Amino acid sequence: MCGIVGYIGSKSVVGILTEGLRKLEYRGYDSSGIAINADNEIKIYKAEGKLQNLVDLLQGHVKETQSAKAGIGHIRWATHGAPTEVNAHPHTCSCGKLVIVHNGIIENFKELKEDLIKQGCVFRSQTDTETVAHLIAQEYNKTKDLTQAVRLATKKIQGAYALGVMHQDFPNVLVATKRNAPLLIGVGEGEFFIASDVPAIIEHTKKALYLNDDEIITLTNEKMTLIDGDNKELNPKIEILPWEPVALSKMGFKHFMLKEIHEQPDVIRNILSGKLYNTDEPISLKEVQLTKETLKNLNRIQIIACGTSMHAAMVGKYLIEDFCGIAVDVEASSEYIYRKTVTDKNTLVIGVSQSGETADTITAIKQSKAKGSHVLIITNRPDSTMAREADSLVPINAGIEVSVAATKSYIAQLISFYLLALYMAEVKGSLDNATLTEIKKELVVLPQKVEMILAHKEQIQKCAKIFSTTKDFIYIARGINFATALEGALKLKEISYINATGYPAGELKHGPIAMLDETMPVLSILMHGKVYEKILSNAEEAKARNAKMIALTNSDDKKLEELFDFIIKVPEVNEILSPVIAMIPLQLLAYYIAEFLGKDVDQPRNLAKSVTVE
Ligand code: G6P
Repeated sequence: MCGIVGYIGSKSVVGILTEGLRKLEYRGYDSSGIAINADNEIKIYKAEGKLQNLVDLLQGHVKETQSAKAGIGHIRWATHGAPTEVNAHPHTCSCGKLVIVHNGIIENFKELKEDLIKQGCVFRSQTDTETVAHLIAQEYNKTKDLTQAVRLATKKIQGAYALGVMHQDFPNVLVATKRNAPLLIGVGEGEFFIASDVPAIIEHTKKALYLNDDEIITLTNEKMTLIDGDNKELNPKIEILPWEPVALSKMGFKHFMLKEIHEQPDVIRNILSGKLYNTDEPISLKEVQLTKETLKNLNRIQIIACGTSMHAAMVGKYLIEDFCGIAVDVEASSEYIYRKTVTDKNTLVIGVSQSGETADTITAIKQSKAKGSHVLIITNRPDSTMAREADSLVPINAGIEVSVAATKSYIAQLISFYLLALYMAEVKGSLDNATLTEIKKELVVLPQKVEMILAHKEQIQKCAKIFSTTKDFIYIARGINFATALEGALKLKEISYINATGYPAGELKHGPIAMLDETMPVLSILMHGKVYEKILSNAEEAKARNAKMIALTNSDDKKLEELFDFIIKVPEVNEILSPVIAMIPLQLLAYYIAEFLGKDVDQPRNLAKSVTVE
């Protein structure tokens, strides 16, 4: 949520800030702004809406901004205060000399604000962030030392923050700090960067330093000074980022989402390579440290995640219980962290996160670690906060996902769960060799099956056109594909804003059936296997209430033509692997409906790709 970028050096700063912000747009896009040191004067430019509005605004100010060599920038996902220009960052203190950008939430801002107002501070915005600007300015007025002012002021803050700070009195100094929010410092030749995430700086430098909580860094174009919250000077530990600059291109596709959906066959191949060499050999997960002994002593597994990652976790639960016979719970991280969880050293806690930076999941895994649980992280970002907290890691190698609606990262998480569940079954000896080999063989041919679906996407386009005017949508499934129903409905909600809900098909008659009439499409995920006939019966019940019937199926049964108004056909697949095959058409269906409705597919309203606030 919210992206921060900052620069100090000898290059013109405006382009560096706006290009950096463009790479952070996935973190929010409701307003943006920059503050720069132009001829020893701090100047601020802000715009409501997409980043392009700020870029256009700056086009009219080239003369007064081109000499600036230091500045901070921000892209916002509104938490406190509407997404207006006035609430856009950077924010200033009463006299306007101190500017800050902030990612996070200041939980005690109300008390702090009341106090600051009593002391004469003038607030201009509704944000929690502005409180921090006033707090730092107060400390600065006492000490005249910007670094110490940041250190002392942040001691009074509760909550999460990554901060970039500048002051008119020292226009060639940039101060940054963080707590429970990501921030890294890029180290160049005679220049430094601050950023919420690697893509904002990787074009400029591969050398970086990840700030730890409460550390404060002071940057000039010549040097950096790092202290901890107790004012002790620290030795900065510079790492080489394992990243290459990536040109974010749609490669001819209309949207990143469509491109990412089409990348999925290769994403599956990538994950399998190096982990599944040969169907007769054991799965190799190099960064997983689960011994036979640990697995034998496990009393349960808890999987914690948010959003799409939680749906992948639900499939993971099914697989681990089926292959390994260990009890698994899945819980939304935001629920997990505010109750008494029964977790100990014999509990394996699995955190699933595309970004590795989701605040609720980070808190949850930290809590479990403190109770002695082994923490295993499945993530697309092996350099993330979660990965760095992990005892075991499964990197999903999906490549950068630009579209806010997760697609390829979901499929990559599913494949990671297949590999992990098989790996655990092999270590534990809980599956017979014939079953193990059969599942592995099916995994290897999955990419071709996904390619077959992509090659016949016209059937889904047709379906999307027919149902694009609906106000509501119901998805039903059972067993391993219940999660697919939830994820399919989530995709549609996220990008088309149609009210879509996934139900276990057997639950339809316990309430939701009351909503059915000829205006309601019901999509049944009908894959061969244990629950095929059961779902078919539930679909009959919906048909009897005049619902518009859609089947997503691998069955050739002619009888289906009588029951369903529209049939989306997918290749035959072992039921255990069907969540991968069933998901692809649902991603395409959501995409084509949103596209047909003219929605902003890659950057849907109110959402952000990485949610770094609780
Ligand atoms: C946001 C994104 C979702 C994502 C969720 C969890 O809400 O919009 O697509 O599933 O965060 O993110 P994570 O990075 O932890 O998977």
